[in-house]
Amino acid sequence: MPQSAIKPFIDVLSGQRQSIPPMWMMRQAGRYLPEYREVRAKAGGFLDLCFNPELAAEVTLQPIRRFGFNAAIIFSDILVIPYALGRAVRFEVGEGPRLEPLDDPAKVGTLATRADLGKLAPVFEALRIVRAQLAPEIALIGFCGAPWTVATYMVAGQGTPDQAPARMMAYRHPEAFAKIIDVLVESSIEYLLAQLAAGADALQIFDTWAGVLPPAEFARWSVAPTRRIVEGVRAKVPDAKIIGFPRGAGAQLPAYVEATGVNAVSIDWTAEPGFIRERVQSTVAVQGNLDPLVLITGGAALDRAIDDVLANFAQGRFIFNLGHGIQPETPIAHVEQMLRRVRG
Ligand code: CP3
Repeated sequence: MPQSAIKPFIDVLSGQRQSIPPMWMMRQAGRYLPEYREVRAKAGGFLDLCFNPELAAEVTLQPIRRFGFNAAIIFSDILVIPYALGRAVRFEVGEGPRLEPLDDPAKVGTLATRADLGKLAPVFEALRIVRAQLAPEIALIGFCGAPWTVATYMVAGQGTPDQAPARMMAYRHPEAFAKIIDVLVESSIEYLLAQLAAGADALQIFDTWAGVLPPAEFARWSVAPTRRIVEGVRAKVPDAKIIGFPRGAGAQLPAYVEATGVNAVSIDWTAEPGFIRERVQSTVAVQGNLDPLVLITGGAALDRAIDDVLANFAQGRFIFNLGHGIQPETPIAHVEQMLRRVRG
Protein backbone atom coordinates (compact mmCIF):
# COMPACT_ATOMS: atom_id res chain seq x y z
CA MET A 1 0.00 0.00 0.00
CA PRO A 2 1.54 3.37 -0.91
CA GLN A 3 2.16 5.51 2.14
CA SER A 4 -0.40 8.11 1.07
CA ALA A 5 -3.18 5.52 0.98
CA ILE A 6 -3.28 5.55 4.78
CA LYS A 7 -3.47 9.35 5.13
CA PRO A 8 -6.97 10.77 4.54
CA PHE A 9 -5.51 14.29 4.21
CA ILE A 10 -3.19 13.21 1.37
CA ASP A 11 -5.97 11.19 -0.25
CA VAL A 12 -8.10 14.33 -0.58
CA LEU A 13 -5.17 16.14 -2.21
CA SER A 14 -4.86 13.16 -4.59
CA GLY A 15 -8.49 13.64 -5.61
CA GLN A 16 -10.36 11.18 -3.38
CA ARG A 17 -13.19 12.65 -1.33
CA GLN A 18 -13.40 11.38 2.27
CA SER A 19 -16.80 10.82 3.90
CA ILE A 20 -15.55 12.58 7.05
CA PRO A 21 -13.41 15.50 5.87
CA PRO A 22 -9.87 15.51 7.28
CA MET A 23 -9.24 18.59 9.40
CA TRP A 24 -6.56 20.87 10.82
CA MET A 25 -6.38 24.58 11.67
CA MET A 26 -4.12 27.30 10.34
CA ARG A 27 -1.95 28.53 13.26
CA GLN A 28 -2.98 25.47 15.26
CA ALA A 29 0.27 25.67 17.24
CA GLY A 30 -0.15 29.01 18.95
CA ARG A 31 -1.01 31.28 21.80
CA TYR A 32 -4.56 29.94 22.41
CA LEU A 33 -2.86 26.81 23.88
CA PRO A 34 -1.44 27.05 27.45
CA GLU A 35 1.15 24.38 26.60
CA TYR A 36 2.34 26.56 23.68
CA ARG A 37 2.61 29.66 25.87
CA GLU A 38 4.68 27.66 28.34
CA VAL A 39 7.20 26.50 25.71
CA ARG A 40 7.19 29.94 24.07
CA ALA A 41 8.15 31.59 27.40
CA LYS A 42 10.97 29.09 27.83
CA ALA A 43 12.36 29.56 24.31
CA GLY A 44 13.11 33.28 24.50
CA GLY A 45 12.28 35.08 21.26
CA PHE A 46 9.89 33.81 18.60
CA LEU A 47 12.70 33.04 16.13
CA ASP A 48 14.59 31.23 18.90
CA LEU A 49 11.58 28.93 19.13
CA CYS A 50 11.46 28.45 15.34
CA PHE A 51 15.17 27.56 15.30
CA ASN A 52 15.17 25.20 18.30
CA PRO A 53 14.42 21.80 16.68
CA GLU A 54 13.27 20.04 19.86
CA LEU A 55 10.98 22.87 20.99
CA ALA A 56 9.65 23.57 17.46
CA ALA A 57 8.86 19.86 17.13
CA GLU A 58 7.17 19.89 20.55
CA VAL A 59 4.82 22.80 19.72
CA THR A 60 4.08 21.25 16.30
CA LEU A 61 2.91 18.07 18.05
CA GLN A 62 0.93 19.77 20.85
CA PRO A 63 -2.30 20.36 18.87
CA ILE A 64 -2.11 16.82 17.44
CA ARG A 65 -1.90 15.29 20.91
CA ARG A 66 -4.69 17.46 22.26
CA PHE A 67 -7.13 17.33 19.33
CA GLY A 68 -6.06 14.51 16.99
CA PHE A 69 -6.08 16.65 13.84
CA ASN A 70 -5.38 14.85 10.53
CA ALA A 71 -2.39 17.05 9.73
CA ALA A 72 0.43 18.77 11.61
CA ILE A 73 2.06 21.90 10.17
CA ILE A 74 5.69 22.44 11.00
CA PHE A 75 6.18 25.30 13.43
CA SER A 76 8.13 28.04 11.68
CA ASP A 77 7.33 31.31 9.88
CA ILE A 78 7.24 32.61 6.32
CA LEU A 79 9.87 35.23 7.23
CA VAL A 80 12.65 32.66 7.74
CA ILE A 81 13.37 33.05 4.00
CA PRO A 82 14.36 36.75 4.27
CA TYR A 83 16.41 35.69 7.31
CA ALA A 84 18.19 33.03 5.20
CA LEU A 85 18.82 35.74 2.59
CA GLY A 86 20.78 37.62 5.24
CA ARG A 87 18.14 40.27 6.02
CA ALA A 88 17.67 41.35 9.62
CA VAL A 89 14.38 39.90 10.93
CA ARG A 90 12.98 40.31 14.44
CA PHE A 91 9.62 39.80 16.07
CA GLU A 92 8.50 42.44 18.55
CA VAL A 93 6.14 41.08 21.19
CA GLY A 94 2.66 42.45 20.56
CA GLU A 95 3.73 44.23 17.36
CA GLY A 96 4.67 41.58 14.82
CA PRO A 97 7.64 41.29 12.48
CA ARG A 98 10.27 43.97 11.88
CA LEU A 99 12.74 43.75 8.95
CA GLU A 100 15.21 46.20 7.41
CA PRO A 101 13.11 47.86 4.66
CA LEU A 102 14.03 47.03 1.07
CA ASP A 103 12.24 49.95 -0.48
CA ASP A 104 14.40 51.28 -3.30
CA PRO A 105 16.34 49.86 -6.27
CA ALA A 106 19.74 50.66 -4.70
CA LYS A 107 18.93 48.48 -1.68
CA VAL A 108 17.62 45.72 -3.94
CA GLY A 109 21.00 45.79 -5.66
CA THR A 110 22.56 44.54 -2.42
CA LEU A 111 20.09 41.66 -1.97
CA ALA A 112 21.70 38.20 -1.91
CA THR A 113 20.69 36.10 -4.90
CA ARG A 114 20.59 32.82 -2.98
CA ALA A 115 19.27 31.88 0.44
CA ASP A 116 21.69 30.19 2.82
CA LEU A 117 19.63 27.08 3.56
CA GLY A 118 22.20 26.09 6.16
CA LYS A 119 20.63 28.77 8.37
CA LEU A 120 17.35 26.83 8.16
CA ALA A 121 18.87 23.46 9.14
CA PRO A 122 16.95 23.58 12.48
CA VAL A 123 13.64 23.66 10.56
CA PHE A 124 14.63 20.53 8.62
CA GLU A 125 15.73 18.87 11.85
CA ALA A 126 12.37 19.73 13.47
CA LEU A 127 10.58 18.14 10.49
CA ARG A 128 12.59 14.93 10.92
CA ILE A 129 11.82 14.84 14.66
CA VAL A 130 8.09 15.41 14.10
CA ARG A 131 7.81 12.87 11.28
CA ALA A 132 9.48 10.24 13.47
CA GLN A 133 7.00 10.88 16.32
CA LEU A 134 3.84 11.35 14.28
CA ALA A 135 1.46 8.44 13.65
CA PRO A 136 1.71 7.33 10.01
CA GLU A 137 -1.89 8.31 9.21
CA ILE A 138 -1.26 11.94 10.17
CA ALA A 139 0.19 14.14 7.44
CA LEU A 140 3.02 16.60 8.02
CA ILE A 141 2.72 19.92 6.16
CA GLY A 142 5.71 22.03 5.20
CA PHE A 143 5.18 25.60 3.99
CA CYS A 144 6.52 28.86 2.69
CA GLY A 145 5.10 32.29 2.02
CA ALA A 146 4.28 33.17 -1.57
CA PRO A 147 6.86 35.57 -3.01
CA TRP A 148 4.34 38.44 -3.16
CA THR A 149 3.39 38.17 0.53
CA VAL A 150 7.00 37.73 1.71
CA ALA A 151 8.04 40.70 -0.46
CA THR A 152 5.36 42.91 1.13
CA TYR A 153 7.06 42.45 4.53
CA MET A 154 10.58 42.80 3.08
CA VAL A 155 9.76 46.07 1.32
CA ALA A 156 7.82 47.74 4.16
CA GLY A 157 9.91 46.19 6.91
CA GLN A 158 6.68 45.31 8.74
CA GLY A 159 3.04 44.48 8.23
CA THR A 160 0.80 47.38 7.15
CA PRO A 161 -3.01 47.56 6.76
CA ASP A 162 -2.97 47.25 2.95
CA GLN A 163 0.71 46.60 2.11
CA ALA A 164 0.84 49.89 0.18
CA PRO A 165 4.67 50.17 0.27
CA ALA A 166 5.14 46.97 -1.80
CA ARG A 167 2.28 47.88 -4.14
CA MET A 168 3.86 51.31 -4.71
CA MET A 169 7.29 49.82 -5.31
CA ALA A 170 5.89 47.32 -7.84
CA TYR A 171 4.40 50.24 -9.80
CA ARG A 172 7.37 52.61 -9.46
CA HIS A 173 10.25 50.16 -9.83
CA PRO A 174 8.89 47.01 -11.48
CA GLU A 175 12.37 45.73 -12.41
CA ALA A 176 13.78 46.03 -8.92
CA PHE A 177 10.60 44.52 -7.47
CA ALA A 178 10.79 41.64 -9.99
CA LYS A 179 14.31 40.95 -8.75
CA ILE A 180 13.04 40.50 -5.19
CA ILE A 181 10.32 38.17 -6.49
CA ASP A 182 12.82 36.14 -8.57
CA VAL A 183 15.12 35.66 -5.57
CA LEU A 184 12.14 34.55 -3.47
CA VAL A 185 10.94 32.11 -6.16
CA GLU A 186 14.33 30.39 -6.36
CA SER A 187 14.82 30.33 -2.57
CA SER A 188 11.31 29.00 -1.98
CA ILE A 189 11.75 26.13 -4.44
CA GLU A 190 14.91 25.00 -2.66
CA TYR A 191 13.36 25.50 0.77
CA LEU A 192 10.24 23.48 -0.09
CA LEU A 193 12.30 20.67 -1.66
CA ALA A 194 14.43 20.49 1.48
CA GLN A 195 11.25 20.28 3.60
CA LEU A 196 10.00 17.36 1.47
CA ALA A 197 13.38 15.66 1.85
CA ALA A 198 13.15 16.12 5.64
CA GLY A 199 9.77 14.40 5.84
CA ALA A 200 7.00 16.83 4.84
CA ASP A 201 4.11 14.97 3.11
CA ALA A 202 2.52 18.07 1.57
CA LEU A 203 3.25 21.78 1.18
CA GLN A 204 1.21 24.95 1.60
CA ILE A 205 2.05 28.29 -0.02
CA PHE A 206 0.63 31.18 2.05
CA ASP A 207 -0.28 34.26 -0.01
CA THR A 208 -1.96 36.19 2.77
CA TRP A 209 -1.84 39.50 0.86
CA ALA A 210 -2.95 38.27 -2.59
CA GLY A 211 -6.30 40.03 -2.19
CA VAL A 212 -4.92 43.59 -2.20
CA LEU A 213 -3.81 43.37 -5.85
CA PRO A 214 -5.77 44.43 -8.97
CA PRO A 215 -6.23 41.55 -11.47
CA ALA A 216 -3.24 42.32 -13.72
CA GLU A 217 -0.89 42.71 -10.73
CA PHE A 218 -2.36 39.58 -9.15
CA ALA A 219 -1.51 37.63 -12.32
CA ARG A 220 2.03 39.01 -12.41
CA TRP A 221 3.07 39.05 -8.76
CA SER A 222 0.98 36.30 -7.18
CA VAL A 223 -0.02 33.74 -9.83
CA ALA A 224 3.11 33.66 -12.02
CA PRO A 225 5.65 33.31 -9.16
CA THR A 226 3.49 30.65 -7.48
CA ARG A 227 3.34 28.73 -10.74
CA ARG A 228 7.13 28.87 -11.01
CA ILE A 229 7.44 27.47 -7.49
CA VAL A 230 4.98 24.64 -8.20
CA GLU A 231 6.82 23.78 -11.43
CA GLY A 232 10.23 24.04 -9.77
CA VAL A 233 9.23 21.70 -6.95
CA ARG A 234 7.53 19.22 -9.30
CA ALA A 235 10.58 19.19 -11.61
CA LYS A 236 12.34 17.31 -8.78
CA VAL A 237 9.35 15.72 -6.99
CA PRO A 238 6.71 15.17 -9.70
CA ASP A 239 3.92 14.08 -7.35
CA ALA A 240 4.48 16.80 -4.72
CA LYS A 241 1.14 17.75 -3.12
CA ILE A 242 0.74 21.51 -2.91
CA ILE A 243 -2.00 23.69 -1.40
CA GLY A 244 -2.23 27.36 -2.41
CA PHE A 245 -3.76 30.01 -0.15
CA PRO A 246 -4.27 33.21 -2.14
CA ARG A 247 -6.30 34.93 0.58
CA GLY A 248 -8.91 37.29 -0.77
CA ALA A 249 -8.46 36.19 -4.39
CA GLY A 250 -12.25 35.83 -4.77
CA ALA A 251 -13.33 35.78 -8.41
CA GLN A 252 -9.76 35.10 -9.50
CA LEU A 253 -9.52 31.73 -7.77
CA PRO A 254 -10.34 29.65 -10.90
CA ALA A 255 -7.58 31.41 -12.87
CA TYR A 256 -5.16 30.91 -9.95
CA VAL A 257 -5.96 27.19 -9.82
CA GLU A 258 -5.62 26.70 -13.54
CA ALA A 259 -2.38 28.63 -13.91
CA THR A 260 -0.54 27.41 -10.80
CA GLY A 261 -1.34 23.68 -10.92
CA VAL A 262 -1.89 23.42 -7.15
CA ASN A 263 -3.71 20.32 -5.83
CA ALA A 264 -5.94 22.35 -3.52
CA VAL A 265 -6.81 25.89 -2.60
CA SER A 266 -7.46 27.19 0.86
CA ILE A 267 -10.36 29.65 0.82
CA ASP A 268 -11.25 32.41 3.27
CA TRP A 269 -14.72 32.89 4.78
CA THR A 270 -15.83 35.49 2.22
CA ALA A 271 -15.81 32.95 -0.65
CA GLU A 272 -19.15 32.46 -2.42
CA PRO A 273 -20.05 28.76 -2.00
CA GLY A 274 -21.84 28.10 -5.32
CA PHE A 275 -19.03 29.75 -7.26
CA ILE A 276 -16.38 27.75 -5.39
CA ARG A 277 -18.20 24.44 -5.95
CA GLU A 278 -18.74 25.01 -9.67
CA ARG A 279 -15.51 26.75 -10.64
CA VAL A 280 -12.93 25.53 -8.11
CA GLN A 281 -13.94 22.31 -6.37
CA SER A 282 -14.81 20.84 -9.76
CA THR A 283 -11.06 20.75 -10.56
CA VAL A 284 -9.16 20.68 -7.24
CA ALA A 285 -9.70 20.02 -3.55
CA VAL A 286 -10.91 22.88 -1.39
CA GLN A 287 -9.75 23.68 2.16
CA GLY A 288 -11.49 26.05 4.57
CA ASN A 289 -13.31 28.16 5.50
CA LEU A 290 -14.83 28.68 8.95
CA ASP A 291 -14.62 32.29 10.14
CA PRO A 292 -12.10 32.35 13.05
CA LEU A 293 -14.37 34.86 14.80
CA VAL A 294 -17.28 32.41 15.02
CA LEU A 295 -14.85 29.92 16.59
CA ILE A 296 -14.23 32.52 19.31
CA THR A 297 -18.01 32.96 19.67
CA GLY A 298 -18.92 29.28 20.14
CA GLY A 299 -22.43 28.06 21.03
CA ALA A 300 -25.25 27.81 18.53
CA ALA A 301 -23.63 30.34 16.20
CA LEU A 302 -20.60 28.07 15.88
CA ASP A 303 -22.74 24.96 15.26
CA ARG A 304 -24.68 26.76 12.55
CA ALA A 305 -21.52 28.05 10.85
CA ILE A 306 -19.92 24.58 10.87
CA ASP A 307 -23.08 23.04 9.39
CA ASP A 308 -23.01 25.68 6.64
CA VAL A 309 -19.38 24.94 5.76
CA LEU A 310 -20.13 21.20 5.61
CA ALA A 311 -23.30 21.73 3.55
CA ASN A 312 -21.38 23.98 1.17
CA PHE A 313 -18.33 21.84 0.53
CA ALA A 314 -18.35 18.37 2.12
CA GLN A 315 -20.01 16.69 -0.89
CA GLY A 316 -16.76 17.18 -2.82
CA ARG A 317 -13.02 16.91 -2.17
CA PHE A 318 -12.72 18.85 1.05
CA ILE A 319 -10.40 19.57 3.98
CA PHE A 320 -12.08 21.27 6.93
CA ASN A 321 -10.11 24.27 8.18
CA LEU A 322 -10.55 27.89 9.17
CA GLY A 323 -10.63 30.73 6.65
CA HIS A 324 -7.44 32.12 8.27
CA GLY A 325 -5.42 31.51 11.45
CA ILE A 326 -7.00 30.76 14.83
CA GLN A 327 -7.03 33.81 17.12
CA PRO A 328 -5.19 33.74 20.48
CA GLU A 329 -8.39 34.43 22.49
CA THR A 330 -10.21 31.33 21.12
CA PRO A 331 -11.51 29.03 23.92
CA ILE A 332 -10.17 25.47 23.64
CA ALA A 333 -13.69 24.13 24.36
CA HIS A 334 -14.85 25.67 21.07
CA VAL A 335 -12.17 23.81 19.13
CA GLU A 336 -13.39 20.60 20.79
CA GLN A 337 -17.00 21.50 19.89
CA MET A 338 -15.89 21.96 16.26
CA LEU A 339 -14.12 18.58 16.17
CA ARG A 340 -17.17 16.75 17.55
CA ARG A 341 -19.50 18.48 15.10
CA VAL A 342 -17.37 17.78 12.01
CA ARG A 343 -16.55 14.19 12.92
CA GLY A 344 -20.07 13.36 14.07
O1 CP3 B 1 0.05 27.38 11.35
C1 CP3 B 1 0.89 27.01 12.20
O2 CP3 B 1 0.56 26.58 13.33
C2 CP3 B 1 2.36 26.98 11.80
C3 CP3 B 1 3.11 28.13 12.14
C4 CP3 B 1 2.99 29.44 11.36
C5 CP3 B 1 3.34 30.67 11.98
N1 CP3 B 1 3.31 31.64 11.04
C6 CP3 B 1 3.70 30.81 13.39
C7 CP3 B 1 3.61 32.14 14.02
C8 CP3 B 1 2.67 29.72 10.04
C9 CP3 B 1 2.17 28.79 8.95
C10 CP3 B 1 2.88 31.12 9.84
C11 CP3 B 1 2.70 31.81 8.53
C12 CP3 B 1 2.77 33.26 8.48
N2 CP3 B 1 3.60 34.11 9.16
C13 CP3 B 1 2.00 34.05 7.59
C14 CP3 B 1 1.01 33.53 6.58
C15 CP3 B 1 -0.24 33.02 7.19
C16 CP3 B 1 -1.08 34.08 7.89
O3 CP3 B 1 -1.34 33.88 9.07
O4 CP3 B 1 -1.48 35.02 7.23
C17 CP3 B 1 2.34 35.40 7.81
C18 CP3 B 1 1.77 36.61 7.10
C19 CP3 B 1 3.39 35.42 8.79
C20 CP3 B 1 4.13 36.60 9.29
C21 CP3 B 1 3.90 36.79 10.74
N3 CP3 B 1 4.38 35.96 11.73
C22 CP3 B 1 3.19 37.84 11.37
C23 CP3 B 1 2.47 38.97 10.65
C24 CP3 B 1 3.25 37.61 12.75
C25 CP3 B 1 2.72 38.50 13.85
C26 CP3 B 1 1.25 38.36 14.05
C27 CP3 B 1 0.93 37.46 15.21
O5 CP3 B 1 0.01 36.63 15.05
O6 CP3 B 1 1.56 37.61 16.25
C28 CP3 B 1 3.97 36.42 12.95
C29 CP3 B 1 4.27 35.76 14.25
C30 CP3 B 1 3.86 34.34 14.42
N4 CP3 B 1 4.05 33.34 13.51
C31 CP3 B 1 3.26 33.78 15.59
C32 CP3 B 1 3.10 32.41 15.34
C33 CP3 B 1 2.56 31.35 16.27
C34 CP3 B 1 2.94 34.53 16.86
C35 CP3 B 1 4.23 34.80 17.61
C36 CP3 B 1 4.21 34.41 19.07
O7 CP3 B 1 3.91 33.26 19.44
O8 CP3 B 1 4.57 35.29 19.87
